[in-house]
Amino acid sequence: MPQTIAVLDFGSQLTQVIARRIRECQVYSKIYHFATPAAKLRADGVVGIILSGGPQSVYAKTAPHPDPAIFELGVPVLGICYGVQLMGHFLGGHVAHSKAREYGHGHLTIRKPGKLFAKLPRKLRVWNSHGDKLTKLPPGFAAIGTSENSLFAAIEDTKRGFYGIQFHPEVFHTERGVDMIRNFLLGVCRAKQDWTTRDFIAQTVADIRAKVGKSRVLLGLSGGVDSSVAAALLHKAIGKQLTCVFVDNGLLRKGERAYVESLYKRNFKIDLRVVDASALFLRRLKGVTEPEKKRKIIGRTFVAVFEKSLKSIGHADFLGQGTLYPDVIESVSIGNNPASLIKTHHNVGGLPARMKLKLVEPLRELFKDEVRAVGAALGLPKEVVWRQPFPGPGLGVRVMGDITAEKLEILRNADAVLQDEMMASGYYYKVWQSFAVFLPVRTVGVFGDERTYDFVIALRIVESIDAMTADWAKLPHDLLQKISSRITNEVRGVSRVVLDISSKPPATIEWE
Ligand code: XMP
Repeated sequence: MPQTIAVLDFGSQLTQVIARRIRECQVYSKIYHFATPAAKLRADGVVGIILSGGPQSVYAKTAPHPDPAIFELGVPVLGICYGVQLMGHFLGGHVAHSKAREYGHGHLTIRKPGKLFAKLPRKLRVWNSHGDKLTKLPPGFAAIGTSENSLFAAIEDTKRGFYGIQFHPEVFHTERGVDMIRNFLLGVCRAKQDWTTRDFIAQTVADIRAKVGKSRVLLGLSGGVDSSVAAALLHKAIGKQLTCVFVDNGLLRKGERAYVESLYKRNFKIDLRVVDASALFLRRLKGVTEPEKKRKIIGRTFVAVFEKSLKSIGHADFLGQGTLYPDVIESVSIGNNPASLIKTHHNVGGLPARMKLKLVEPLRELFKDEVRAVGAALGLPKEVVWRQPFPGPGLGVRVMGDITAEKLEILRNADAVLQDEMMASGYYYKVWQSFAVFLPVRTVGVFGDERTYDFVIALRIVESIDAMTADWAKLPHDLLQKISSRITNEVRGVSRVVLDISSKPPATIEWE
């Protein structure tokens, strides 16, 4: 059993972010239900406890409370936001109930650095999100930091190793927040820094084996980062018990299917079944122009094809999915268990419930960059690990208007030229996404001595951090020139290339 930092979850949306920051410090942590008995924590070898934030007031009837004996375990405790109020409430201080929330940036002035703020500047911008606040210190505590709204923005009891902070050190908006967490883990808890990506892989492999036993697992492989890493991890854990299904929906990029087959079947020796359903998808999409309708048809057809293919593959008990933490929507319940209402985005719709498949989601607690690190450690090539996002409905939402095989072919060829030049110039890995869009508009052109009347390709190349907002990428003109002339020279049916210079908002990244 590794030395464990216990994160008690009081229902904050940020609990997983705390766990992520602890991993960044190479320390092992586990998220526990808020009421986990102290004896269980002791048995698990817990060397420090972090009390997460939470949406409730400590005075609320339904407020989640910890086992009071956690304060008697003799291990350090760090209370964050709601966590510090719990410390005030349980250890003899006083918490004032307030109706107004304090939300947003604040300024912390460190009065006494001690262990928690060791080597940090005296003034830092911090992020607040709380209603109640501590108004009287519990016995044994001293204030070590103040903010514009609180004399007790940070408190400590050095004797017991108890610390409390009103703001959120785990979020990016708090300056040097991760250093505060590191100081608690290493300086106060004296935790070992022995938790790496390789340890994560080893433990996850063991967990998958324990969960799955001798059963079979199916996984819908899309070729994107998440499902690829999930496949590689599952394959490492259970080898032949894993069967991957790759659906060719006819809306894939040029060479996509061949690439996936060669990588997983030949290279990784994964049992990969490729289902060619392109004719069915195109038939169902015939004449459909409305973007939402297209998406629905593509989604429904995918589920139907996947389900049908399972019949020929044979029985399985589990469905593997590359769900990441940001895909997990946490809706915090008001009841006794804040974590009870966790919902998952299912890439394959209602399939698991209907087919009575149990889920195995080995990446469920990870963030995207951590998934990439796991993929790289498992030996997946850079092109997969650093692949740009590609929408589920594929080229279906990149051919404007109705979709035909001819238009898809033109788009595929134009897109291949774009990707080729993005790769060659190194810009592929510098931007968030770069792709071509087919516009069903004919414009006049000249080719040799002939007048042409051909379609238009738009280039959509954006920079973004999280796809919530995006800006069009300012690529060098000579690169754009090369892409444009190659497309008009090499792709039949295109005589004009335009560049999309819209940001998100108001435009979205995809055109449909
Ligand atoms: P938008 O167009 O909304 O896209 O700015 C934001 C990001 O999401 C991707 N995207 C999708 N991904 N299924 C997916 O898996 C979809 O239906 C879908 N639509 C958009 C898009 O490529 C961009 O990265």
